[in-house]
Amino acid sequence: MSDDRPFQWEFRPEPVPPETLTVEGGTPLRGTVPVSGAKNAALKLLAAATLTGERCRFTNVPEIDDVRVMADTLRDLGVVVDHPASNVYEVASGDVEWLFVPLEAAAKMRASFILLGPLLARFGRVIISNPGGDRIGRRPVNLHVDAMRALSAEIEYRNGYYFARSPGRLRGSEVRFPFVSVMGTENAMLAATLAEGHTVIRPAAREPEVDDLIAFLQRMGAEVERTYPDTIEVEGRKRLRGADHHVIPDRIEAGTFVVAAAVTGGDVTLRGAPCDHLEAFLDVLRRAGVGVECRGDTIEVHGDALRDGGYRSVNVTTAPYPGFATDLQPPTCVLLTQATGTSRVHEAIFEDRLEFLGELRRMGADVTLEDPHHAAIVGPRPLHGAEVEVGDLRAGASMILAALAADGRTRIHGSHHINRGYENIERKFLDLGARIERVIDPSPGEPNAHGTAEGNAVTTS
Ligand code: EPZ
Repeated sequence: MSDDRPFQWEFRPEPVPPETLTVEGGTPLRGTVPVSGAKNAALKLLAAATLTGERCRFTNVPEIDDVRVMADTLRDLGVVVDHPASNVYEVASGDVEWLFVPLEAAAKMRASFILLGPLLARFGRVIISNPGGDRIGRRPVNLHVDAMRALSAEIEYRNGYYFARSPGRLRGSEVRFPFVSVMGTENAMLAATLAEGHTVIRPAAREPEVDDLIAFLQRMGAEVERTYPDTIEVEGRKRLRGADHHVIPDRIEAGTFVVAAAVTGGDVTLRGAPCDHLEAFLDVLRRAGVGVECRGDTIEVHGDALRDGGYRSVNVTTAPYPGFATDLQPPTCVLLTQATGTSRVHEAIFEDRLEFLGELRRMGADVTLEDPHHAAIVGPRPLHGAEVEVGDLRAGASMILAALAADGRTRIHGSHHINRGYENIERKFLDLGARIERVIDPSPGEPNAHGTAEGNAVTTS
C-alpha cells in the first residue's frame, strides 16, 4: 500500500456503553471459581498468527473486550478471524491487504502495538498508530521502535503514526534494552522469527506470557529459545507454519480472586490456577497472614485471619517477573487497608498506577500518596460504601474487592473498563455469593438499564 493513499478504514469499534457496578459488601465469599486464559498471552498469540498464512487455532482464549478489539483489528487488516465457540479463535492471515493499524485500535488498546513486529517481518511494511498512554502512565513505545531499527527496519513518525518498512528481509542482530520491557521483548522476538540471521534479545522479559508465546512460535517452526533467564535467541526462518495453542491461565485474574477471598474473610478455591506464576505475590499474602495453599493447579484461600486478629502490614515493591507483578499491586493495596500497621508500597514500574488509592480513601481507607511511585497504607480501617470512579481495568477490579469488603453499597462508575481484561467477572463473583449488579448507564434521556453477567435484569442473590 503506498503511503499517500487516504486512510479509508472500516474499523469503527462499537463504542463500549459506560457501565456502573453496584455492590453490596460484607458477605464472605465462598465456593469455587475457574481461572480464565491469560489476557496478556492471548493478545500476543493472536498477533503472532500473522507471521504465517496458514490457519492457527487458539483455545482457552478469555472472552474479554481486549480480545474482541484485537480480533476486529486483525479483521480490518483482511485477516480471517473465526470465533467458532466460546474461548476458541481461529486466525488465517493468507492475503492481508491493508497494513494499517488505525488510531481507534491503538486508542482502545495499547497492545495493538504488538502487531508492529509480525506485520513488518512478514510483509515488509506497516503503518501503525502510536498507542500513547493510558490511565497508568505515559506508556511510550520508543524501545519497540529502537528494536525494529536494530533489526534494520526504517521507521519514521508522522502525525501520530509510525511508518515502518524494511527494504528487504529484516536482518537479525543484537537487541539490547536499557531495562526490561514485556511487549518490547515480544515485538522484537516476533520480528526476529522471520529475519535473516541470528538475533539476541536482552534483557528479555521473563513473564510467563512471554514463554507461552515462545512455546507457540516453536510450534510454528520458529527457532526461538530462552538461552539464559534474561536472554532470548532467535534464528530467523523464511516462513512459519500454522499451529494450535492452548492459552496459559491468567495469573493476574487468579491473584485478584485470592485477594477477594482474603478481604471478605471467605473460603475460596481457584481451579486451573497458575500457582507457580504467583510466587512473589503469594509470599506477600502469606506474610500478611492470609491462608493460602497451592496444590497443582488449585489454590485454596482461607480468609479467617480477617476475623481472628486481622492481617499483618507488609511492604511491597513491584518489579519485572519473577518479582512482584505491578498488575497485582492495586488488588494488594486493598488487602493492606485491612492489615494492622503501616504498609509501604513502591510502584517501581509505572507512574500514576497508585492514583486509584484516592478512590479507596473515599471508602474510608487511610492511604497517603507520597509521590507517583510511593504510598503508605495504615490499617486496619473499616471500609464503607461510596460512589467511586475507575479508569483502568486493574484499578477497576480492585475497587470491586474494596466494595465487597466494605459495609454497605458501593457504585463503581466506569466499570466497563473491567470487561477489557476479566472474563465474566460479575458472574464469577455472583457464583461465590457476592451481591453485585451491572447497570448499563443510560444514554441521556433513556431510563436506567439493569443487567448482570448475562445482561438480564435480575436482583442478584
Ligand atoms: C505489559 O505492558 C502488560 N501488558 C502490562 O499489563 C504490564 O503491567 C506490563 O507489561 C509490566 O509487566 C500487556 O502485556 C498487554 P513494559 P508493557 O514495556 O509491555 C516503559 C494490564 O493491565 N517503557 O514492560 O506495555 C514503560 O513505560 C497491563 O494487563 C518505555 O519506556 O509494559 C514502563 O515504565 C497494564 N518505553 C516500563 O517500561 C517502551 O518502549 C515497563 O513497561 C516500552 C515501555
